[in-house]
Amino acid sequence: MQYIGIDLGTSAVKLLLMQSDGTVLSSISKDYPVSYPKSGWSEQDPLDWLDQTLAGLEELLATRQADKSKLKGIGIGGQMHGLVVLDKNDQVIRPAILWNDGRSDQETNYLNTVIGHKKLVEYTGNIAFAGFTAPKILWMQKHEPEKFAAISKIMLPKDYLVFRLTGAFTTDVSDASGMLLLDVKNRRWSAEMLAICGINEQMLPDIHESYDISGYIKADIAGSLGLLGEIPIVAGASDNAAAAIGTGTVENGSCTVSLGTSGTVFIASDTFQAPENNAIHSFAHANGKYHLMGCMLSAASCLKWWLEDILKTTDYEVEQQEIKALGDNPVYFLPYLMGERSPHNDPNVRGAFLGLGMDNTRAQMVEAVFEGVSFALKDSMEMARSLGIKIHNTKLCGGGAKSPVWQQILANILNMELEILENEEGPALGGAILAAVACGEYASVEEAAKVIVKVKEIINPNPELILAYQQKYLVFRSLYPAIKGLL
Ligand code: XUL
Repeated sequence: MQYIGIDLGTSAVKLLLMQSDGTVLSSISKDYPVSYPKSGWSEQDPLDWLDQTLAGLEELLATRQADKSKLKGIGIGGQMHGLVVLDKNDQVIRPAILWNDGRSDQETNYLNTVIGHKKLVEYTGNIAFAGFTAPKILWMQKHEPEKFAAISKIMLPKDYLVFRLTGAFTTDVSDASGMLLLDVKNRRWSAEMLAICGINEQMLPDIHESYDISGYIKADIAGSLGLLGEIPIVAGASDNAAAAIGTGTVENGSCTVSLGTSGTVFIASDTFQAPENNAIHSFAHANGKYHLMGCMLSAASCLKWWLEDILKTTDYEVEQQEIKALGDNPVYFLPYLMGERSPHNDPNVRGAFLGLGMDNTRAQMVEAVFEGVSFALKDSMEMARSLGIKIHNTKLCGGGAKSPVWQQILANILNMELEILENEEGPALGGAILAAVACGEYASVEEAAKVIVKVKEIINPNPELILAYQQKYLVFRSLYPAIKGLL
């Protein structure tokens, strides 16, 4: 049998075709733009997601490996927290406000201080961050009252795709967790949060577990894609939860570090935990359980910005050739290009290079980008450790994980073994696995992950360099407090 996994990312939608045993037969990536109307704002047109997904499906199904008669189901993992609003005719009211958009600073402060951490954690298991959906709803209510009044449906990015492809208005528990509207522990909407945001439950999708079937591809779309029979689409998952399924991060205390546009530290947990100091998110997992997650807003995107936008090159390999990675690079980089989420919760801070001298090289600046992003991930890892969370193994995924230099720098900085997988297609593979579970191919997500996910290599930290990186990390940690409020 064959399954399609879709990863609705920020820079592109990635689609893959998976065989029952987990073999990836083919994959396709289709780009779309992000617009930054103001510093710290980021938006996308949901119609771009739909157009490119449909084009991607057509291309994927035209590959010689695809056999339409064997296609059994589709699963989607998507960028989290984005606010998509539709009117009563199901038309998009405004561009989607994305996960890394920091415009709702004031609304976030209102939620955290006036409603207060204690109540927010009681209602949702989480405190407010500017990227979350609820503060964006409050922002719309204040700044776009007419558009707010026209809202008939509120949904997340991948749920918009499911809605357009099937007509089903659904979400899944992992993605819904990031809205700050879900009572994460009990996996249902929080009546208190809905009241605080001035919305009602009819505006929100039905909540499913990630491996539940949401609906079937509409006849006209199935017809134009040449699909036979009824093809189900599962509720799917947040891109991070889908990636965790795709990397086999399903057992209590297992972890995935993702170096995508964002950088995340994702820790699977059998039980719900909402620590009082909740700079780490406490969300539902796509395997029916829970997870904890730290998220930095600009990870591999810092490298892309530095190489492509500033240095005007796309030759990533050449730029890395002279990097020594000995822990003695005097240059520091603060990766706060879109502000920062975990642990600082500061949408207004901006990035910096520091410690530059006349003798510094281009390679050292690239190295500083690798290090700065890795240090910021360490901030989340340290936060998890300080909460007493035990991590027993860590996998690495995301575009940045392809660089051997970055892999080694990250292992040294985190002082952890990092497992590299045979298949790095994290979220899209996770989506396909969820579809296979829904179609009865595997008894559970855990069983599927055990069969499908294979470790290729382990990157060990270099014991001789750990101290040097630890010292550099101490300096890195002192830099945010020094620039807070200035940049
Ligand atoms: C997680 C988060 C990001 C996006 C990226 O909380 O905001 O990882 O999901 O697509």
